[in-house]
Order: sequence, then structure tokens, then C-alpha cells
Amino acid sequence: MHRIFWTIFPIIPGVFSLNNGVGKLPALGYDTFNAFGCDYNASIVAAQVETMQELGLVKAGYNTLILDDCYALKERNATGHMVADPDKFPHGIEALSSHVNHHGVQLAAYGDNGYQTCAGYPGSYGRELQDLQTWHSWGMSYLKYDNCYIPADNITQENMLGRFQRMSDAIAEFAQNTNNTFHYSLCEWGWQQPVIWGHRIAQSWRNNGDIKPYWSALAAIMNEASFLWWASDFYGHNDMDMLEVGNNGIGTPPGNLTYEEEKSHFTAWALLKSPLFIGTDLTKASKQSLDILGNRDLIKINQDPDVGESISPFRWGVNADYTFNATHPAEYWSGNTSYGIVFMILNSQDTTQEMSFNLTESWAIRAGRQYSVYDLWSHEDVGIAVRNISMELPAHGVSALLLNDAGPEPEEYDASCGFFYQCSVRLTHLSPI
Ligand code: GAL
Repeated sequence: MHRIFWTIFPIIPGVFSLNNGVGKLPALGYDTFNAFGCDYNASIVAAQVETMQELGLVKAGYNTLILDDCYALKERNATGHMVADPDKFPHGIEALSSHVNHHGVQLAAYGDNGYQTCAGYPGSYGRELQDLQTWHSWGMSYLKYDNCYIPADNITQENMLGRFQRMSDAIAEFAQNTNNTFHYSLCEWGWQQPVIWGHRIAQSWRNNGDIKPYWSALAAIMNEASFLWWASDFYGHNDMDMLEVGNNGIGTPPGNLTYEEEKSHFTAWALLKSPLFIGTDLTKASKQSLDILGNRDLIKINQDPDVGESISPFRWGVNADYTFNATHPAEYWSGNTSYGIVFMILNSQDTTQEMSFNLTESWAIRAGRQYSVYDLWSHEDVGIAVRNISMELPAHGVSALLLNDAGPEPEEYDASCGFFYQCSVRLTHLSPI
């Protein structure tokens, strides 16, 4: 006979949980990785920050600069502390930190959940609190946390949530001990559905491997976002990865985004409420790329203080709705904002296309009303829309429009419905309603 033994363990409530009030809105800033990889130092960082300030990007909200991988020596010191690489940071990271503070920017940390970072520098496994202390002493309060060289299963005995929870617990403990909070950004590349659990322990989570400066890479991320947009709201954001705007001709093979593609990239990342981290050498970026990064109307919606939700697709376009296709993400999107109803129309095809939609295809639009239309790229009012909007979009181009109710439709429109099955035409032989 089989006997089942139940062992009752007392349930010990988690001592610490992450509830530190930071990260309501997507983070805005700069990250060294896309532009420089490991090849950066204090003067390169200072030049980026100075340029950010000169160009008005700090004022636009880009106020955090992540020192991504490779800022430390490969070995910790005798007390187990990470040491800033003295060749890259001859005056130390603290000095750089106060320099960038004078320009309105705060340095931010990159770390790793395993024994080493992805490029082989010290990882924080088992040293979470100690490293938080180090980053804090460098003037940092934001942490991007990567997923390389994680210990074997018999050591962690955890799933991805549990592995990343270690740092979240340490952040909570650090806050309890010192009153200093950290904004926690997960980078486990979407391996184990962080859309489901990321918000429990962190303020943002990557859903993809590394972005690249080619349209195919952007389309693949937007395709995933066509299914994952629902996970973003205040205090928790899908991180679509650092921006590639400005990286034409950079990287291996070299980036080749067109102006239209860069605009689509920025529009999607901003309206899907992704963190926006500039990833190009700003001292060499073109005026066009800089204007894209500084699009005040899109940043305003990304940073909407009263509406946290992302846009969502209402029609896929090229494909049948809900088709997962890395080349053709959803093309017709809309959402609510404090400033009106926003639409993003994306041409995922390689040729110019005529794009059009019925306004009431979007859940956010009221039937029987007309709407004023503001263009979020030309920054001007472009007219009144009744029933539908049509446009021509270049290959991989985008339109971003803000619609506001402008009263009932003109009378000549009152005979039918946007969708015939949603209402009845009044039958004249019946008595008036
Ligand atoms: C990757 C991460 C990149 C960058 C890189 C540094 O894992 O996705 O964004 O941080 O590591 O080595």
C-alpha cells in the first residue's frame, strides 16, 4: 500500500518585497552599449552627456545614463568589491558621476545575475547587497540586470523569477537599511515570460534578445510587442531594448536604417511605453536622427503622467489578425492618452502603400462623432476626420496621429453605421423612437 506523507513546513512570509515607489513612467536616458559596446570611457560618457544637454535632450527628459557592460576590472579587490577600471575612469566613477550630475543626468548601473557579466566582468550572484552599495557610492540608483553565466540549477534551485528576485530582495533590503531606492530593470531577453511576473519584482523587463540597427530586427521586436503590449502600465514596462536611432553605418554588419525606419522605431517604442535609451554617438548623429530622438510630442505621450497604458493593435493589416510574423507586425494601432486618442499606422511592406482605416475600428473612438487630427511628426493640426482616414506611407514608414472629439458627425453621414452589424437603421414604418 502506498502511503502519502505530508510534511507541513511553517510558511515564512517574504521579509522584503519590492514596493519602492520608483519607475511609474518609462525611464528615459542613454545607454553606452549600442554605440560603443565595451569600448567607452569617462571622456566618451562625458561628451555624450554634454551633448545631451546642449541639444536639449536632458530637458526633454533623458536624464539617466547607463554605464553598460565593461566598466569594471575583471577581478574584484581583496574585500570582494568591484573596482572601476582605472584606464577607462582615471578619476573614478564617482567623479564622473558628479560631472554628469551638473548636466542634469544621473549615472546608472549595469550588473548581472550570474558569476560574470555577458562580457566577462564581475557578476553579482551572492554579492547583491555589496554591489548595490558600490553602485550607490558611485551615485547610481538605477540597475539594468543581465542574465549571463548564471549558476547551475542545483545551486540556484530557482526559476527565472526566483533568480531575479534575489536582486529585488536585496534592493528592498538596501532601501530598508539606507532609505535609498533602485529602479530595477530586468534583462533576461524574454526567456521565461517576464511579461507575466516582471512587475512583481521590477519596473521593466526585456522581451527580446539584443536589438540591431536593421529593419528586420525592429520588425521582429514590434511583432512580439503586437502580442505583449498589455503588460505595460504604470510601474511596469515592456523594455523593447535600447534605441538604434542614429546608427546608420555603425556596427557589424553596419546599421542601415532609413529616416522613415528610424521614425517608425521611435514612434513604436514611445507609444508602446518602452523605456527610451538613446544608443548612438550623439556627437556624430545627423540632425534628422537628433530631431527624431527629441520628438517632444511622442515623449510627452511616453511620459503621460495620468494614462499609463500602451497602444494596442486593432488590425494586423498585411496578415490576418493575430498572425505572429516577424516581418509583418501589426500595422494599425491605437490607444488612450491624456491628450486624445493616439493612432500609429505602420507600413511593414518594402514598398509605398495606401493605408486606410475606419475610425471605429479602434475601441477608443466614439461612433457618430468627428475628430480633429493632430500629426505627432509635423506637430500641426491636419484637419477633421469623419468615419475614416486614408494615407500613403513610404516603405516601413509611420503615421502618428492624435485625435480629439470635435462634435457629432455632419448630418449627411447619419444614415448608416461604421459597422453595419453594430446598429440598426431606423425603420421608417415603425413609430418614432
Ligand atoms: C546583453 C544585453 C545587452 C548588453 C550586453 C552587454 O546580454 O542584452 O543589452 O547589456 O549584454 O554585454
